[in-house]
Amino acid sequence: MAGKHAKLCVDGGRVIELPVLEASLGNDVIDIGTLTNEGYFTYDPGFVSTAACDSDITYIDGDAGTLLHRGYPIEQLAEQSDFLELCHLLLNGELPTPSEKDAFAAAVAEERHLPESVAEMVSRFSPGAHPMGMMTALTGALAAEYHDGLDITEETHRLATAIRLIAKMPLLAALTYRHPKGLPPPPRQDLGYAGHFLHATFAEDESYEVNPVIARAMNRIFMLHADHEQNASTSTVRLAGSTGTNPYSAIAAGIAALWGPAHGGANEAVLNMLDEIGRPDNIDKYVARAKDKDDPFRIMGFGHRVYKNRDPRATVMRRTCHEVLAELGVANDHLLQMAQRLEEIALQDEFFIERRLYPNVDFYSGITLKAVGIPTEMFTVIFATGRTPGWIAHWREMVSAPYKIGRPRQLYRGQTARNYVSLEERD
Ligand code: CMC
Repeated sequence: MAGKHAKLCVDGGRVIELPVLEASLGNDVIDIGTLTNEGYFTYDPGFVSTAACDSDITYIDGDAGTLLHRGYPIEQLAEQSDFLELCHLLLNGELPTPSEKDAFAAAVAEERHLPESVAEMVSRFSPGAHPMGMMTALTGALAAEYHDGLDITEETHRLATAIRLIAKMPLLAALTYRHPKGLPPPPRQDLGYAGHFLHATFAEDESYEVNPVIARAMNRIFMLHADHEQNASTSTVRLAGSTGTNPYSAIAAGIAALWGPAHGGANEAVLNMLDEIGRPDNIDKYVARAKDKDDPFRIMGFGHRVYKNRDPRATVMRRTCHEVLAELGVANDHLLQMAQRLEEIALQDEFFIERRLYPNVDFYSGITLKAVGIPTEMFTVIFATGRTPGWIAHWREMVSAPYKIGRPRQLYRGQTARNYVSLEERD
């Protein structure tokens, strides 16, 4: 066998040779695609050692705390670039030239409107409906409206889908805020991406002005969530998309996967946890609960499947959080102080040190969003808005090249074949 390969020894000495595919960064992978011909599957619950695709978009080194989009470190992008540039980078592989940037921003601005049926649909939800449930349904409604004539084998259609989703997601997010308050659909305006989101969400009349510090923070929050390679929601988008389904519904599936507290729901869970802890003198009790194997309680916003060192996004988010709280004059906020105390205690505790559990991006984004006035149950909607370019870039990468329908195998441990027993014969 030419090139690098691995040998797998099974059945008392039988050797199976498997090719090794080389990564440009990070782990090489053993290509096990032919293993089924040898009578074996591999077993990897949670896909901790399994690459399901190859990708050029994002690289994470969890041990080093590195996150690169198309080779650029997230810290540099978050400090020096902006969300629409990052969308262009994720989708097209390169930062835009000045004219490409203008053209991309204009294309997104052009799509800042919703089909009437989608805008009206929001009024059918009860006032207490969860924003993530609304977001999943509204994105599914885009699939219904943008299905006829959509040909995913056409690159122009794929790009138009990406731009539409990036443009419309902040409007859907804004509707989930406005609906329970009985506010009418937001007026159109020409602000930048983050400013447009803030205006569409909060403006009740013409007097609303976007605070540039808050717009910069929102821009960073969107950027820090823009992509994170093959996480649960992105893998869901790829798996759904691998059937050739409508891309808007593949994104709706990604939003559903994001909702859970182990993934995008963690930022909401952080605030709920701080509320539950209630007072700084309760922190020790909750840290002890987090360490107790028989107690399901975990410190939300701590730990990560991939980062076993600092989450680089958390470092930027922590700084942004302090900027926002200072700008809004709430640096002494009770919840922030509790969060800081919790962070100090957990970072010095052997349990967390041994398991390399550090605060993740959601630990700080939740506190920042609360200060900005975003309701807790809407935090994951903000994550979804930021993650949209990542989801659609992965979908586009997949469908632009030959791909297979995703179809995992299983280790079957149920009953072996047996005959049906009639109802009368069963006791
Ligand atoms: N609090 C207390 N203990 C924890 C925590 C935590 N937040 N996270 C992990 N552990 C412990 C866990 O009990 C286990 O201990 P032991 O080895 O004694 O059994 C050990 O650390 C390893 O945990 P794991 O569940 O095997 O780790 P994982 O890589 O499968 O899980 C995680 C990663 C993010 C699901 C988990 O750390 C967690 O539930 N964190 C809290 C929720 C959270 O903040 N999620 C947001 C992730 S970042 C947003 C995103 O990118 O989606």
